[in-house]
Amino acid sequence: MAFLLLLADIESKSWVKQLKIHEPQLDLRLWPNTGPVEEIDFVLAWRPPPGELARYPKLRCIASLGAGVDHLLRDPDLPAAVPVTRVVDASMAQSMSEYVVMAVLNWCRHMPRYARQQQERRWQVHVPRQASSTGVGIMGLGQLGGAAARHLVALGFDVAGWSTGPKQIAGVRSYIGEAQLGAFLGRTDILVCLLPLTERTRGILDARLFAGVRPGAYLINCARGEHLQEADLLAALDSGQLAGACLDVFVTEPLPPEHPFWRHPSITVTPHTASLTHPRAVVPRLIENYRRVMAGLAPLDQIDRLRGY
Ligand SMILES: NC(=O)c1ccc[n+]([C@@H]2O[C@H](COP(=O)([O-])OP(=O)(O)OC[C@H]3O[C@@H](n4cnc5c(N)ncnc54)[C@H](OP(=O)(O)O)[C@@H]3O)[C@@H](O)[C@H]2O)c1
Repeated sequence: MAFLLLLADIESKSWVKQLKIHEPQLDLRLWPNTGPVEEIDFVLAWRPPPGELARYPKLRCIASLGAGVDHLLRDPDLPAAVPVTRVVDASMAQSMSEYVVMAVLNWCRHMPRYARQQQERRWQVHVPRQASSTGVGIMGLGQLGGAAARHLVALGFDVAGWSTGPKQIAGVRSYIGEAQLGAFLGRTDILVCLLPLTERTRGILDARLFAGVRPGAYLINCARGEHLQEADLLAALDSGQLAGACLDVFVTEPLPPEHPFWRHPSITVTPHTASLTHPRAVVPRLIENYRRVMAGLAPLDQIDRLRGY
């Protein structure tokens, strides 16, 4: 009945503390000191090495430490019959909404330009973009995209979302599937990517997509780096089809020092910080799932392995 904490590149101290607070009797193992592999029932994982999760023959649940599960599903040896769960948490949705609102307002109020002007001590006014006439298009209207959409509606933006199935969010126009992608893009001044990374969405932010948005549009990618075709973004910025981008996620993280995004005048870079998972917020639900699994029940917040999210 052991619980394995398998965090490849995250500090485990605060996770251990919260897990012990909420389940003092927990038989907690810290990877790579797992003890006998057949004793591990439940694993909380972030970016495990490929093949690692196939080593535990009695595993009953694989919990992703984040909202995304692409870091797990990319492993061809991930045990097929074990349920996979993800983090669904109101504080993550709040944090992501803050990031998206920050990026949208920064752009509408010309903050990247003013930052440059300040370096030059130059006083020059740029008329703010009005919320009501700015079309914000959110790709992915799930837990995070849906929350961001509600916040932007409250600020008066003209908000639409794109997803696989129809969504009903007050004030948000819902577009679905490939057939409505063109119409969705055609009303978009600010494009926000909050899709999960799947085989269908990998590389989706490409030249074809950028050609469909309103000229001079702004891109905000806070989903996964692999959604973006990086060369296509640079070309769209060169041509003026896109006027700028705010990027939180990258194909290679940390972003290498020589990467052109660092020095591009129209790109804002943040270090994958849009919405972090806070142990204090999510451990109660993880322990609830651990108890459910130990009691022979299905865990909550399971993903659909076939769909990939
Ligand atoms: N940067 C950060 O700090 C950070 C933090 C947390 C998460 N993330 C990223 O954010 C992603 C989204 O998280 P979430 O919790 O909002 O996920 P979610 O609740 O599963 O929502 C995903 C949304 O994407 C839509 N979608 C999926 N595949 C699609 C496709 N092929 N075409 C059109 N729409 C599609 C879904 O549509 P349906 O509902 O109709 O199926 C759904 O609306 C995560 O997967 C993760 O990669 C980033």
